[in-house]
Amino acid sequence: MAMDRGQWGSRLGFILAAAGSAIGLGNLWRFPYITGENGGGLFVIVYLLCVALVGLPIMMAEIFIGRTAQNSPVGAIRSMSRPRSPWMGLGWLSVVAAFVILSFYSVVAGWSMHYVWLSATNSFKGLSPEQIGDVFDSLYQNGGLNLFWHVVFMVLTIGIVIAGIKRGIEFWSRILLPALFVLLLVLLVYAMTTGGFATGFKFVFGFHAEKFHPARSTLAALGQAFFSLSLGMGALITYGSYLRRDEDVVSTSIIVCGLDTAVALLAAMILFPILFAAGLDPDQSVGLAFVSLPIAFSQMPAGALLGPAFFLLLTFAALTSAISLLEVATAYFIDEKGWTRIKATLVTGGGTLLLGIPSALAGGPGFFGGRLKEATKPVWEGGKNWFDLLEYFSNNWMLPLGGLGIATFVAWRVGDAAREEGFRTGTKLGMLYWGWVQLLRYLVPLGVLLILLNAVGFFALFWGNGEG
Ligand code: TRP
Repeated sequence: MAMDRGQWGSRLGFILAAAGSAIGLGNLWRFPYITGENGGGLFVIVYLLCVALVGLPIMMAEIFIGRTAQNSPVGAIRSMSRPRSPWMGLGWLSVVAAFVILSFYSVVAGWSMHYVWLSATNSFKGLSPEQIGDVFDSLYQNGGLNLFWHVVFMVLTIGIVIAGIKRGIEFWSRILLPALFVLLLVLLVYAMTTGGFATGFKFVFGFHAEKFHPARSTLAALGQAFFSLSLGMGALITYGSYLRRDEDVVSTSIIVCGLDTAVALLAAMILFPILFAAGLDPDQSVGLAFVSLPIAFSQMPAGALLGPAFFLLLTFAALTSAISLLEVATAYFIDEKGWTRIKATLVTGGGTLLLGIPSALAGGPGFFGGRLKEATKPVWEGGKNWFDLLEYFSNNWMLPLGGLGIATFVAWRVGDAAREEGFRTGTKLGMLYWGWVQLLRYLVPLGVLLILLNAVGFFALFWGNGEG
């Protein structure tokens, strides 16, 4: 249907765009605090297993579907299955998930933009570490301010997606990603000199069994792997659809997974040492990145420069991820409804903007914040506000279920010959084919189902262990 869908300029362009989608707030903001909440070492090991055994095969499956069909998720799945197949539900799930995830993602990205402003105007100068922590709390509670930055961030995202694949998404990924790597290395060197590095390292990689809850933490590791790798909702199907048919799916996926994981581990090894060196409590939850780094910058000679630079890059990392989320919904309207890119982007972006309003208000006392927290308390231990609920359900449930669907679809629904040829095309790693299929057929579905059922408390029926 679509005449000129657009295409990546080169393989490197695709790798950078896919890595740009994967590397984002999930790595720099979410991974460190989730790791802290789940007790470090053991969680990190479970996370790495989830990436290697579940995430990587699904990433290959998604890019494979997109590259084969040259179409966005709904159309791609339609073209690879029978008419009116229930598999189409997977395509729809992607469009819904794209709206939901981007709606709260944009709010966090907004925090990051606010911190560009704060650090550029030297607002942390002379503050104690505790006071820097308070700065985050007051931002979190300020609905109006959150709303303002949410709108600014969505406007930027819409602007890039409107510009299209090569001139928008690829162009920006090429510049921003390398810059992010350089800054991370600078910060790592700094973290190593703080004196908190050994403690921080032990915190991240040591075992704190009391914080690791088998059912809940394993689910969190799985959800984090899906979120961080941009899996389970067709973002990489969409990106794969702008790839030439002879590109290498296998090594590309390995590179993207590797980069993403490296950045997540780096982020944890940067943030915790800084926090420990400042004598602060590591239980900072969603504020971790926004407390730890300003402390570091306020104490570094070059901090006045590095601070704004870092938060700018964090914003850009969020932006290259957000565009992949918006692109899923946008591509749907372009490919399926024949809308122009401009119209599709404005409608999907506008919709996300509205859906994000309750998330922006979630730190405050109103209905979406404090009152919802009170109301949900009995069910969700400390209570969850609107933002927490969306984040929890989309990451821990929607994405794993979507990934389960994609794995099952490719392993059992796509014909053997087409799947094998697709995998082998363009790659020197054809020998991995057998293993990939086995993982998709058995380990991925079983593993994901077990983790989900376990978290639901299914096993409690048999073993009377209702923790979850
Ligand atoms: N992976 C991104 C991050 O780590 C977020 C993201 C972008 C995403 N696209 C996605 C998550 C698609 C799930 C699905 O910040």
